Amino acid sequence: MLTLPNDFPATVDGLVDEAMQIEGWTTPRELRFLALLAACPTTTGAVLEIGSYRGRSTTLLARANQLVSSNAIVAVDHLLQAGAYEAFQETMRTADVEHLVEFYRMMSWELASDWDRPLRLLWIDANHSYDSTHRDLTSFAPCLADGAMVAIDDVLNRFEGSLRVFLEDILLSPHFGAAGVCGSIGWAQFHADSRDARPYHREKLKLYRKLSPLVPLVAFDCYPSGWDKLRYRLLRSRVPRRMPAFSDWMLHVCGPFSKRPGSFYGFPRDRQG
Ligand SMILES: C[S@@+](CC[C@H](N)C(=O)[O-])C[C@H]1O[C@@H](n2cnc3c(N)ncnc32)[C@H](O)[C@@H]1O
Repeated sequence: MLTLPNDFPATVDGLVDEAMQIEGWTTPRELRFLALLAACPTTTGAVLEIGSYRGRSTTLLARANQLVSSNAIVAVDHLLQAGAYEAFQETMRTADVEHLVEFYRMMSWELASDWDRPLRLLWIDANHSYDSTHRDLTSFAPCLADGAMVAIDDVLNRFEGSLRVFLEDILLSPHFGAAGVCGSIGWAQFHADSRDARPYHREKLKLYRKLSPLVPLVAFDCYPSGWDKLRYRLLRSRVPRRMPAFSDWMLHVCGPFSKRPGSFYGFPRDRQG
């Protein structure tokens, strides 16, 4: 049975407020969901962020992880642009989270080539091209612990790579079980034994059917315009992407009902989102 730290619903508001002071694109709803993933371990292992920019999600993940673990999170970003590394360091210093983040200034695949630690949470928010996103997922996938969570940003923000990798490598993979979208984050739980993911197949296919019509509108990295833009918006509006109630999410992922899902996808209420 999963548990959350005491007072998490109150704590999370402060974490999101703090992160929103930092430059970035991750929205409050998405930050709230990331905090849930970090503060509610579904297995043991490291938390890895690919793509930090100024440190918005880094700070939030570090603080949420600290509620349940004494280990630092790991973050990687090449931060090639002039002043980017200094700005990131300044965020870490100002937020006083330097000791909570093991940071690697390099390309994600450079880190992957030496990586051998089990992961409990893999957060991918780097280059959203198909090749890069696919590489980020597949190069760290061998280290996913049984029950680990994977979250990919911008599956609903007109990026071909994030959307296709979520559809093809996650929703169509027999090794991923519980899955959904929150804001623009596509998330799913990894199972080493694909039989554990089987009860979620129908639910994943339902989500696949909602998301896949978006692919032709963003394929070849085109940005929909005119009628296609309207069509994209209409199709996107049919994808359930609310913040789930914490307790419902926990029950769905690993709780007593996890072997017979069906109540979570398209969940009608939005008590905490
Ligand atoms: C969208 S931003 C990350 C935003 C951040 N997660 C936040 O919440 O504000 C993407 C970042 O990924 C980094 N990046 C892109 N491709 C990368 C790669 N292959 N390896 C490491 N960093 C990468 C870029 O330098 C950029 O800072």
